[in-house]
Amino acid sequence: MKIAIASDHAAFELKEKIVQHLKELGHEPMDFGVHDNTSVDYPDYGAKVGKVVSEGEFERGILLCGTGIGMSITANKFPGVRATLVYDNYTARMSRLHNDSNVLVIGGRTTGISTAFDILETWLTTQYEGGRHALRLKKISDLDNNRRGE
Ligand code: RB5
Repeated sequence: MKIAIASDHAAFELKEKIVQHLKELGHEPMDFGVHDNTSVDYPDYGAKVGKVVSEGEFERGILLCGTGIGMSITANKFPGVRATLVYDNYTARMSRLHNDSNVLVIGGRTTGISTAFDILETWLTTQYEGGRHALRLKKISDLDNNRRGE
């Protein structure tokens, strides 16, 4: 799968390891930066991935920052993006089953590498369940279209 990925400085090392692991798993990561651990503003990098997933250029994205919070807030500004901050195998699984997560967010300062790899593999292989969740996701996409509570 083609996957857009970016991080800020706080998760640069984790991003490098995830890029490598994605390749080993047979995926095609497109690295939108950062390329070293010089301090940057996370919204600049979250927006790069949010934009390409929102516009359909990439089916999935991965974002990493210190806590994952700033990247989640940023990516979810883009219509159609369902960015989920995940911190263990259970939340990784549920983010796909129920939320049809299309952007995985992990905190580089809060999640160890083996947990991050477990999360990644679960998120990549778990299928969206659909059914009753489809109406709920439609209610979210309606918010993108400014149809609130109709
Ligand atoms: C950077 O210091 C830090 O604020 C950022 O990586 C992230 O955790 C923001 O939510």
